[in-house]
Amino acid sequence: METDMNGNGTGTHDDGDASGSLRGKVVVLGVTGGIAAYKSAELVRRLVKLKAEVHVIMTKAAQEFVSPLTFRTLSSNPVVTDMFGEPGAWNVMHVSLAQRADIVVVAPATANCIGKIASGIADDMLTTTIMATQAPVLLAPSMNTRMFLNPIVQGNLRKLASLGYIIMEPAEGELACGDVGRGRMPEPGEIVEKICRILSDGSPVMEDKRDLEGISVLVTAGPTQEALDPVRYLTNRSSGKMGYALAEAARDRGARVCLISGPTSLPAPVGVDFIRVRSAQEMFEAVIARFEDADVVIKAAAVADYRPVRVAGQKIKKGDGRMVLELEPTPDILGELGRRKGAKLLVGFAAETRDVVESAKDKLIRKNLDMIVANDVSRYDAGFNVDTNAVTIIGRDGSIEEVPLSSKREVAEKVLDAVARLMRARS
Ligand code: PMT
Repeated sequence: METDMNGNGTGTHDDGDASGSLRGKVVVLGVTGGIAAYKSAELVRRLVKLKAEVHVIMTKAAQEFVSPLTFRTLSSNPVVTDMFGEPGAWNVMHVSLAQRADIVVVAPATANCIGKIASGIADDMLTTTIMATQAPVLLAPSMNTRMFLNPIVQGNLRKLASLGYIIMEPAEGELACGDVGRGRMPEPGEIVEKICRILSDGSPVMEDKRDLEGISVLVTAGPTQEALDPVRYLTNRSSGKMGYALAEAARDRGARVCLISGPTSLPAPVGVDFIRVRSAQEMFEAVIARFEDADVVIKAAAVADYRPVRVAGQKIKKGDGRMVLELEPTPDILGELGRRKGAKLLVGFAAETRDVVESAKDKLIRKNLDMIVANDVSRYDAGFNVDTNAVTIIGRDGSIEEVPLSSKREVAEKVLDAVARLMRARS
């Protein structure tokens, strides 16, 4: 075994990886050619500290940013840099690493590498290993914001997500090129936590949780904005967090996901088909246009029930006295879906401040739903614009499941558990 250059291993400060041990786990880490490659050294250090056996494969471009010696020193293993190098004591290298891996992680994953994997190109040791492995593959994209948002990259990520690749959301912030936006590689600590979750029993992304594979799920999220004039609108306090958590959880469970979102400050989740709308009317049109393709529709959006009858073409001037706004109902999107439902599975949300369960049951019947998620939004820690939620999932068959206060992601998993159960019962 090699030691590091100081002979004492791997740093002293506390990592904060609340992740447990990776003893006995083989992590194959692919490092591709982006500036974030330097952060991967820290990733290796943390994995080794958790007792993982780490094997690093570097692409040619990655070697322009960091020397293989860094990774060899930190991992105490030879670093693979060349497809046709001398194999020494190893087996056919890409096959042996692909077989031995408990997980393959690509961090940073450049647009180029993502494109190659999505297209089935295997022209170097990393892409060949990925193609040959049956282990979970975790990608940590890292690139310039405009590259990340390029529809080709987004399409590749969607394709890979639908094939079971696990994709981490890039972080937002200042990028090496000076731009500010999404595209930063997640911090090494976050990647380690994700790896631990994937490798631990009961992880939401393990194969047994890919129970929505082949299913098309349409999710709505966020508020709507109903214009009064060019600068003012009526809206509500929905942040979109609940709906986005549902879309991400459904994606991770193997579904093809379309997320139709009102205006929010949240980034579009990676690997889902994302459509942004503003008003209830726009949401209505977007949902109806995609309804045909959906097997399951989950309506977590807080759609305005009323909109101004007249939208002023110019900014409304301040007058002396009172002003009366005349409102008219918006289209009831869920009601319309209930009429067209057929064999699709329809899940509504009900935001209530009193008689929560009774009012939700009434909506379930009136809108012809299969399930409704009753949300007591009078609580300070649940419902609108917080990270947690507490709900009651009510089935058309009379079943009732209380989900105690949990993160919105955990609530989303419970809702999807109920959806998956219903799908199984129907098939
Ligand atoms: O976005 P967050 O900050 O995370 O907050 C989450 C949430 C509180 C918004 C969410 O959990 C929630 O409860 N969403 C439903 C909010 C709502 O509009 O409830 P409602 O009871 O008014 O509507 C019942 C159902 O009909 C909802 O599924 C709604 O999407 C749908 N609806 C309502 C009006 C309308 N014109 N068309 C609709 O389809």
